Amino acid sequence: MKPSRFLKATVLVNCAVPVALLGWDAYHGQLGANPVNFAIRTTGILTLIFLLLTLAITPVSRLTRQGWLGSFRRMLGLCAFFHGSLHFAIFFGLDRAGSVEDTLSETVKRPYLLVGMAGLALMVPLAATSTDGMIRRLGGRNWKRLHRLVYLVAIAGAVHYYMLVKADTSQPIAFAGVLGVLLGYRVVAYFVGLGLDARIARTSPARVAGARPAAAPRFWKGQLTVASIFDETPDVRTFRLVAVEGSDFPFEHLPGQYLNVSLPVEGERVGRSYTIASPPTRGGSCEITVKREEHGVASRYLHDVVREGTLLDVSAPAGRFTFTGAEADSIVLIAGGVGITPLMAKIRYLIDIGWTGDIDLIFSARTERDIIFREELESVRQRFPNLRITVTLSRDDSPGWTGERGRISPELIRRVVPSIATRLVHLCGPDEMMGSLMVMLRDLGVPDDRVAVESFTRAIHRDAERQGEMQPEPTGVVAGANGAVVAGTPSITFARSGKSGPITNGQTVLEAAEELGVDIPYDCRAGICGTCKTQLLDGHVTMDMEAALGTRDRARNLILCCQAHCLDAVVVDA
Ligand SMILES: Cc1cc2nc3c(=O)[nH]c(=O)nc-3n(C[C@H](O)[C@H](O)[C@H](O)COP(=O)(O)OP(=O)(O)OC[C@H]3O[C@@H](n4cnc5c(N)ncnc54)[C@H](O)[C@@H]3O)c2cc1C
Ligand code: HEM
Ligand code: FES
Repeated sequence: MKPSRFLKATVLVNCAVPVALLGWDAYHGQLGANPVNFAIRTTGILTLIFLLLTLAITPVSRLTRQGWLGSFRRMLGLCAFFHGSLHFAIFFGLDRAGSVEDTLSETVKRPYLLVGMAGLALMVPLAATSTDGMIRRLGGRNWKRLHRLVYLVAIAGAVHYYMLVKADTSQPIAFAGVLGVLLGYRVVAYFVGLGLDARIARTSPARVAGARPAAAPRFWKGQLTVASIFDETPDVRTFRLVAVEGSDFPFEHLPGQYLNVSLPVEGERVGRSYTIASPPTRGGSCEITVKREEHGVASRYLHDVVREGTLLDVSAPAGRFTFTGAEADSIVLIAGGVGITPLMAKIRYLIDIGWTGDIDLIFSARTERDIIFREELESVRQRFPNLRITVTLSRDDSPGWTGERGRISPELIRRVVPSIATRLVHLCGPDEMMGSLMVMLRDLGVPDDRVAVESFTRAIHRDAERQGEMQPEPTGVVAGANGAVVAGTPSITFARSGKSGPITNGQTVLEAAEELGVDIPYDCRAGICGTCKTQLLDGHVTMDMEAALGTRDRARNLILCCQAHCLDAVVVDA
C-alpha cells in the first residue's frame, strides 16, 4: 500500500493539532499563571513525543511488515524538529527576552539546558539533510548513518527532561523507558539478525524465500480482462490486466509475487506463471511482462493470440520471492533478461513508498534493444536517490553503448557493489546465469542464506527435462495408490499428522489440509510449481493439472495436493 496524499495530509494536520491548540489558548490568555513556561513545557513534551514516534516507525513497520509506514518517518522527524525549534524560540524570545547573552549565561548555568541545546544542535543536520536532493548527495548509506543521530537527540531530550524535573520523575522515566525499548529493539535486531545495517544479519533471504509472509494476501481465482498491451522490446510485451466489467480489482499481492494463467492452447489447458511486474501500490490493475519464446507454447499464445479485451483465467497471488522494504535496510538485485520482472516489481514498490534504503540493480541484457523497461529505469535512476543501476550487455553488438559490456563477473560486482558480502541479494534470470552467480557470490563472501533466488524454469520444465521428457498436461487424471477406484464417500486422512475428515464442496487435498490444520507447503496453487507434491498412500484422486509431476514422481505415487480431488477414502503422507 502506498499512503495517498490525502492520508499524508491527514496525518500532518493531526500532528499540527496540539500546537494549534496551544496557540489558540495562548491567544485567549488561557495558559495559566506562567504562560511562557507552559508553552515551553508543552512544546518540549511534543518534541519528545514526535522523536519517539519517529523512532518507532522502523520497528513497527518491520514487525508488522508494513513497509509503507516508513514514508511517514521523515514527516514525523521534521515535526520533532519543528517543535524543538519552537520550544527553543519561546525560551529565547519570551523567557530570555531575545537576549543572546542572557540565553547563553542561563544555558551555561543550568546543565539541563546545555543537554537540551546539544539535542537541538544535533537535530539541525538531520533536518537540513531531510530532502531527496541531500539523500542523493550524501548517498543512502551515509544518509542513514547520519540519521542514527536521532537516537542521541532523543537521549539528550530525555536526559534534559529528567534533569529539570525536581520532584516527580515518573514522566521523564516513562519517556526514557519507551526510548529504552526502541533502542533495545535496535540492539536485539542487530544481534539476532532482524536487520539494521550492513554488518548486521538482516532478514535472511532463506526466510524471505522460504517463509510465507505473515500478511500473505488471499488467494483468488477467476478471470481478468487484458486492458492494454505494450511492446517493451522486440520480443517482450507487457499485458495490463483489469477486473472484468469494471468490478473492483480482485486480489492484492506483495512485490515479487506472481500469478498463474491457464490458457486454452489448441484445445489443451496450458498453465504458466508470470511475475506481477506492477507494484501493489498501483491498484486497479496488474501487469505481466512476457518474453516470447521462439518455440514456447504459452508465451507465443500470449504474444500472437491474446489481444486487448481477451479474458484470461488467472489465479493469484503466489510466490515468496518478495521484498517490501521491511525485511532489510538495503538490497542488491541481480537480473538477467526477463528475470528483471520480479525485481522491477520491487523497485517500483520501493520507489512508490519512498523507501530510503540502498538499492543496487545489476541487469544483464543481450543487446541494447533487449533492455526491458529501459526508459523507466533511466528515469527512476534520476529520481530515486538510493537506486544505483548497472546494465551490462552480454552480446557485444551495440556499437553506441557506453555502459558495461560482457556477462556479470565478480570484478563487475566488486566494482559496483563493494559491500556485497554484507548485503541481501535477490537474483532472477536464466538458470545457467543463476548457477554461476551463486558460485560467484559465494566467492565474494556472500553466505548462501543471504541470497534469494527465483527460477522461471523450476518445477515443470526442470523436472521434465531432468527426466528426459516434456510432459503434456493431462486433465482429469486419476492417480491411485491401489487397484480400481471404489466408489464411496470421499474422505481424507493425513497419515503423519494423524488427522482425517470428510471432503466437502469439491475441496482439494490442500484445502482439506488447511481446514484440518495440516501443514502442506504450497506456492502457485495452480499445479505448476510442484511445491505441494505429496505421496498418495491409499485411495484415488483426480487432478485438474499435473504438469509439475515427472515420470519418477508418478512412479512414486506423488500427487499435487493443490490440484487433487479425492474420489474415495484417500490417505496421504502429510
Ligand atoms: C515464478 C515464475 C515467474 C515467471 N515470470 C515470468 C515473467 O515475468 N515473464 C516471462 O516471460 N516468463 C516468466 N516465467 C516463465 C513462464 O512461466 C514460462 O515458463 C515462459 O513464458 C515459457 O513458457 P512457454 O509455454 O512459452 O514455453 P514452453 O513451451 O514451456 O517451453 C519452454 C522452453 O523450451 C523451449 N522449447 C519448447 N519446445 C521446444 C522445441 N521443440 N525445441 C526447442 N526448444 C523448445 C522454449 O523456447 C522455451 O524456452 C515465470 C516462471 C515462473 C515459474
Ligand atoms: C531535543 C531538544 C529538546 C527536547 C526534546 C526538549 C524537551 C523538553 C521537555 C520534555 C521538557 C519538560 C516539559 C515538562 O516539564 O512538561 C522541557 C522543558 C524545558 N526545556 Fe527543553 N527540550 C529540548 C531542547 C531545549 C533547548 C535547546 C532549550 C533552551 C536552551 C530548552 C529549554 C527548556 C526549558 C527552559 C524548559 C522548562 C523547564 C521548566 O519547566 O522550568 N530545551 N524540554
Ligand atoms: S502449489 Fe504449486 S503445484 Fe501445487
